[in-house]
Amino acid sequence: MKSQFYNEDVFETMKRIETGSINLIICDGPYFKICGGFDWAFKTMKEWIDWHILLMDEFERIMADNGSLFVFGDEKNIAYLQVEFDKKFNLLNSIVYRKVNASTIKGIMEFNSFAPITERILFYDKVENKTGLEMIKKIMPNPFAEYLQSELLRHFGTIAEIRKFVVNVLKMDSAMVNRWFEGDSIISEEKYLFIREYLSNKYLRKEYEDLRKEYEDLRRPFNNKFRLTDVIDAKLKSSFHPTTKDGAVIEKLILTTTKESDLVFSPFVGSGTDRIASYNTKRQFIGCELDEDYFRQAEQRYQEHIRQETLF
Ligand SMILES: C[S@@+](CC[C@H](N)C(=O)[O-])C[C@H]1O[C@@H](n2cnc3c(N)ncnc32)[C@H](O)[C@@H]1O
Repeated sequence: MKSQFYNEDVFETMKRIETGSINLIICDGPYFKICGGFDWAFKTMKEWIDWHILLMDEFERIMADNGSLFVFGDEKNIAYLQVEFDKKFNLLNSIVYRKVNASTIKGIMEFNSFAPITERILFYDKVENKTGLEMIKKIMPNPFAEYLQSELLRHFGTIAEIRKFVVNVLKMDSAMVNRWFEGDSIISEEKYLFIREYLSNKYLRKEYEDLRKEYEDLRRPFNNKFRLTDVIDAKLKSSFHPTTKDGAVIEKLILTTTKESDLVFSPFVGSGTDRIASYNTKRQFIGCELDEDYFRQAEQRYQEHIRQETLF
C-alpha cells in the first residue's frame, strides 16, 4: 500500500497532491499555546487562525467530493477555528475526545474549575455551495432522485398525478414521493421494476443496479461498525512526541469513514500515529512533518512497526 512521508512544511506537501484525490484528512495541527514547542509558533491567535484559513482552502481543493475531514483541537480554543471551518465545510459532529487516563484527573482538586480531560474532533464533509440548508437537512447526492423524478414527470406530467399513482396503484403514502425526489430515501428494486413494467417498459430503462452503484460511489463512506458516538474514549500514549494520539481510536475513525485502499492525508504526522493506523487498516497514506527530529523518529517508528508486522 502506498505510504509517502515528507519532512517539509504542509503547504509544500499539499502542492504534491492532486485535486480531489484525498478521501480522508486527519488534521491534528498545532493547537494554540497548549502543549509542545510547535504550539507556540504563532505569536497571536489571529495569526494562527489566518494560517488555518489558508490551510482550509487547500484542504477543500485536495479533498474528494465524498471525502471526510477530522480537525483535532483543544476543548476551548478550537471554537475559534470551528467558526472558520464551518464557513467552508459541513459540520457533522463536534466529537469529544475523552482522555481516560489524563493526568488532570489525578490532580482534579487542584483546579479552580472543572478539570479538563477532553479535546475535540470536528468532523466535516464537503458541500458544493454552502446555503445554510445543510445545517438542518442532510444533503447527499442521490442519482435515483433525479432520474425517478424526471422519468415520472415525463410520463405523468405533474407531481400531483404522480402522487395519485403512488397512492392508488402502489398503495403507498403520498409523502413517499417527496422522500424519493428529495433524495431522503431510495426506491426499492421491487417498486422500481414494478413501475417500469406498469409503464410498458418505456420509462425507467436504466438498470436499478447501475443507479445503486452510482449512488454508493457518490456517497461519503460511513460504516459505524464500532458503534461510535460523539464521545470517544482515548488513552494518552507516552512516546518521543508530546501529543501522540491514541492509534486505536485513529484506526476506528479511518475504518468508519473510508474504504480499503482509500487515500488518507495527515498534514501533521508528529509521532506517526496516522501513518501506522493507515498501514494497519490497508489505506494509502500521504503525510508530512516539519520538525526534522520528529520526522526521523516517526519514520523509525513506522519502519519498526512494519518489521514487527512482517515478522509475525
Ligand atoms: C499535534 S502534533 C501531531 C501529533 C500526531 N497526531 C501524533 O499522533 O503524534 C502536530 C505536529 O505538527 C508539526 N507541524 C507544525 N507545523 C507544521 C507545518 N507547518 N507543517 C508540517 N508539520 C508541522 C509539529 O512539529 C507537530 O509534530
